[in-house]
Amino acid sequence: MKRFLLTVLCSLWFCTTWAQPNIIPKPTQMLVAKGEWTLGAKSKIGAPADAKWTKVAEMLAGQINKASGYSLKTVKGKGDISLVLSSDASLGEEGYRLLSTPKGVTIQAQTAKGAFYGMQSLLQLLPVEVFSPKVVSNVKWVVPYVTIKDVPRYSYRGLMLDVGRHFMPAEFVKKYIDLIALHKQNQFHWHLTDDQGWRIEIKKYPELTTIGSKRKETMKGHYSDQKYDGTPYGGFYTQAEIKDVLKYAEDRFVNVIPEIELPGHALAALTAYPKLGNNPDKIYEVGTKWGVYDDVFMPREETFKFLEDVLTEVIDLFPSKYIHIGGDECPKTQWKESRFAQDLIKKENLKDEHGLQSYVIKRIDKFVTSKGRRIIGWDEILEGGLSPNATVMSWRGTEGGIAAAKEEHDVIMTPNNFVYLDHYQADAKTQPIAIGGFTDLAESYSYDPTPKELTAEQSKHILGVQGNVWTEYMTTSDYVEYMVFPRGIAIAETGWTAADKKDFADFSKRLEIHKKRLDYLGVNYFGAPINDKFQYNWSAKK
Ligand code: ACM
Repeated sequence: MKRFLLTVLCSLWFCTTWAQPNIIPKPTQMLVAKGEWTLGAKSKIGAPADAKWTKVAEMLAGQINKASGYSLKTVKGKGDISLVLSSDASLGEEGYRLLSTPKGVTIQAQTAKGAFYGMQSLLQLLPVEVFSPKVVSNVKWVVPYVTIKDVPRYSYRGLMLDVGRHFMPAEFVKKYIDLIALHKQNQFHWHLTDDQGWRIEIKKYPELTTIGSKRKETMKGHYSDQKYDGTPYGGFYTQAEIKDVLKYAEDRFVNVIPEIELPGHALAALTAYPKLGNNPDKIYEVGTKWGVYDDVFMPREETFKFLEDVLTEVIDLFPSKYIHIGGDECPKTQWKESRFAQDLIKKENLKDEHGLQSYVIKRIDKFVTSKGRRIIGWDEILEGGLSPNATVMSWRGTEGGIAAAKEEHDVIMTPNNFVYLDHYQADAKTQPIAIGGFTDLAESYSYDPTPKELTAEQSKHILGVQGNVWTEYMTTSDYVEYMVFPRGIAIAETGWTAADKKDFADFSKRLEIHKKRLDYLGVNYFGAPINDKFQYNWSAKK
C-alpha cells in the first residue's frame, strides 16, 4: 500500500527528474518530487514531550533562527515540522524517515538519536545558507518534496583525534564533535596520552599534568631534519573541561571514547612517575621527538595499581562503554633486559615478551570489565593472544581485524592506507608538511570496511570504521581541519551508506555543494577559500 501511494505521488509530481538534494552521507532511499514546502517566520517545530526529543527540536530551531532571523518556536506534539516517535523496528536505533509535503515536514524515528539524524538531513535539504552563523537575507527557506528512509550500514562511525602530540583546545574539540555529528558519525575517539604529553587531569596523580603535560621543545620540520624549535610546549584538560565536552557530545549523540596508552607510549607518565618504568633512577623527559620510545611501563604491581587508579577516574568521568587502552607500538627492549620482567614471564608461564604484553592487557581487560566497561586496543593486542573481552582497532592494514573477527572478537576498521588522515592528500610539493604516505580523497572513499575474506557471521563483528588523525605535524586546529576534511567526510559516508549505494563521482558532486556549508561553518578543509592565508603561513614556515 505504501509503495502504491508512493508511485501515485511520484507520477503526480513527475518524480526523479528533479535534481537530487545534496545530502552527505547519502541516504539509503530517497525519492524526490516536484515542488517544495516553504518554511515561514511563523512555522512551528513539534516534538514529543521528552527532554531528548525537545532538545533536538530546539537545536533545529536554533540553527534555522540564527540563519534566517526568524524566531521559530518549538511546541509539544505536531508542528509544521514534526518530530514523531515511530514504532517501525526497521529504523533501528539510529534510522529515520523524512517526508516533506505541501503540509510541512515530518521526521519519524524510534529514538531521539534517529530524529537528530533526520534533523541533519533536513538541514541539508534547506538552502546551504541555513548553516550561516549570522542572518542571511533574501533566502527562500524551502525544502524539496522528498520521501527518505535512512538507516546506517555500521553502528560504529567515528573520528579520532590525537591531542598528545599537539594539544587542541576544548573549544576546538567541540567544533570537531559538531562536524562528527553533522556527518552522522557517532564516535569521537580522544587520544589523551602519549610520549609527548599527558593531557587529562588525574586527581590522584597531579604530576601527570604538572610535569607530564609539558615538554621542553618540539621537533621542527621533518623527522629526518632532526631540528627542534627550542620552545616549551604544554596543555591539558581539567576534569571540569572534560565534563563540559562530554555534555556537549551527549547532546549531539556522539559517544566519546578516551584512550589511555599502555604499556607503551608512556614516556610522559614515566617522566612524572619514574618508578613506573624500567629504571626508577632514570631522569626521563617528556618526548620532544616523534616516533616510538623504548621507555614503557614496567608491569610491577605498583604500576598496575597506578593504571587502575587512573582508569577508575577515567571511567568515572566518561560514560562510554568502550575505554581504549592503546596497546600499540610497545618495544620489548626494556622487558628483555629487565630481571623483573624476565622473572614475571617465568612465574606466569608466559612464552616471551609478547606474552607479557598480553598478560598486561588481560589484567587491564579484567579490571575494566569488572567496572562494566569494555576495552578497545590497537591490533598489536593480538600478539601473544587476544584478551577475552577486547575489541580490536585494526590499523596496520586489515589483517589484524580479519584475524580478530575470525576469533569472534569485535573489530573497528582503521587501516592506515585508507583512513590515516595524517598522510598527504595531494602532491607533497603543494602541501604543508605532513608525516608522509599518500591517501587522497578517492582512496579514502574507496574503502569497504567489511573484508571479503570473512563469512557473513564473522562480518557481524565488523562494527564500523573510523578516521585517525595523528597530530605530530599538525600544530594548530586549522591544520587539523585541513587534513581531516574532506577525507573524514568520505569516511563518514562509508560508515553510513550501503556499499552498493556509494559512488565517488556522485559523492564528489554532492561534496561541492557541501563545501558551501563547511564555509559557513568556518571549516578550513583542503581547498577551502580560507586556506589561502593558512597555506601562505605554512610555506613561510617551511
Ligand atoms: C598507531 O597508529 N600507532 C595506532
